[in-house]
Amino acid sequence: MPVTVIVGSQWGDEGKGKIVDLVSQSADVVARYQGGANAGHTVVVAGKKRVLHLIPSGILNPDCVCLLGSGMVIDPALMLDEIDQLEKGGVSVDGRLFVSHRAHLIMPYHKTLDALNEKSLGSRAIGVTGRGIGPAYTDKYTRIGIRIVDLLDRDLFIEKLDANIRAKNRIIHELMGEPEIDREAVIKYYLDFDRRIDPLVKDVSIYLNDAVDAGKQVLCEGAQGTLLDVDWGTYPFVTSSHPTAGGAVIGLGIGPTAITKVLGVVKAYTTRVGQGPFPTEFDETLNRKIRDAGDEYGATTGRARRCGWFDAVIARYAARINGVGAWALTKLDVLSDLDTLQICVAYEYNGRRIEHFPAELRILESCRPIYEEMPGWRVPISDTRNFEDLPAAAQRYIRRIEEITNRPVEIISVGSERSQTILKAGV
Ligand code: GDP
Ligand code: IMO
Ligand code: MG
Repeated sequence: MPVTVIVGSQWGDEGKGKIVDLVSQSADVVARYQGGANAGHTVVVAGKKRVLHLIPSGILNPDCVCLLGSGMVIDPALMLDEIDQLEKGGVSVDGRLFVSHRAHLIMPYHKTLDALNEKSLGSRAIGVTGRGIGPAYTDKYTRIGIRIVDLLDRDLFIEKLDANIRAKNRIIHELMGEPEIDREAVIKYYLDFDRRIDPLVKDVSIYLNDAVDAGKQVLCEGAQGTLLDVDWGTYPFVTSSHPTAGGAVIGLGIGPTAITKVLGVVKAYTTRVGQGPFPTEFDETLNRKIRDAGDEYGATTGRARRCGWFDAVIARYAARINGVGAWALTKLDVLSDLDTLQICVAYEYNGRRIEHFPAELRILESCRPIYEEMPGWRVPISDTRNFEDLPAAAQRYIRRIEEITNRPVEIISVGSERSQTILKAGV
């Protein structure tokens, strides 16, 4: 800190929620910079588990102000529901939750189109979360999206919405034969939402820049992960935004020079949910074992996550693209029941060794991971709080990850609870 970006360094679900919650104990502001309710960020404090989709994972720290940035796409119903759930659970967001007036709104037709697009892709389907993310960002870049600021001018809002509903109904109803989007219901819903959201709307860029000038500790929270970035991920099996650290600058309205640190979150193994290539994916037996040990089921969709060995090609790529200064290594405890572990150090393709993550899906689909074998530790580690108290084999595993990624591991997570954490150095 003062301005730290916390970025997912694999295919999402690295445990960003836990790490953001942990680090935000000493932050003044936590700002989410992209994505929408496709995210599911789990935070467990004193045995109570909460899954956040839109609201930043710093919200459980009562002194933290939480911001939803302009790079986000906001589903009103889910946002209000999340606020209600938090308040019911004794977490007041009053006066410390704000949303950018430039953020785009998810509309009901975005969700309908998300499902229809996916269906029309057939065997090439992406495996989207169905939260309307792709269609909402499509509208944003086609320049017909509706932003929160549009709610301020009711007539203009209705005019824009009308034009959109007409255009979408041509696809949804006339072309695809699905039920028409009900104009009156949508307008009423969003005007009701406007009444509730009005006090939360802010110019997030001004707020954040003032906070930086005042020397406040700011955390920028990324959703998804580097390999789901629309430019840097395994395109087209990606999301439609920029989870990479650069997304924080665009999605929050701060200059690149304001960022002082990038903390990459990596699992001690790799997971992915949805379709697309995955070089170090386990065979079915090991997949099942680690999925069960790590409870690898999507926090948003409940889908089983695919699991595989730690892939240093991916970690080095994420370090480069994001400017990662240090790692938070999560879920190390999940590997405690293995005799040996493999770390993928490079790929082999057509007899050639590949050190850098390739852009071509064709290569990624057919490359062979080159593994280095390491001994396992076979003792539980979730109660360990000091690096030196970890079994020697676990220490060696961490040190090897540091060596082959050329980045230090600062935080080691050994359980889902906030307290199940080892601070190794520098935090
Ligand atoms: P996020 O999307 O990156 O915030 O990650 P998710 O919340 O989707 O998935 C991470 C899952 O792992 C959640 O169920 C967390 O509670 C859990 N988790 C986080 N860190 C650890 C850890 O170190 N060990 C274990 N066993 N579980 C963890
Ligand atoms: P968090 O923030 C893991 C994946 C989906 C799909 C692809 C596109 O919890 O890490 P989308 O609905 O965004 O258009 O889906 O991206 N995906 C995620 N995978 N964690 C996430 O978020 C994800 N958000 C989207 O499974 O493959
Ligand atoms: Mg998640």
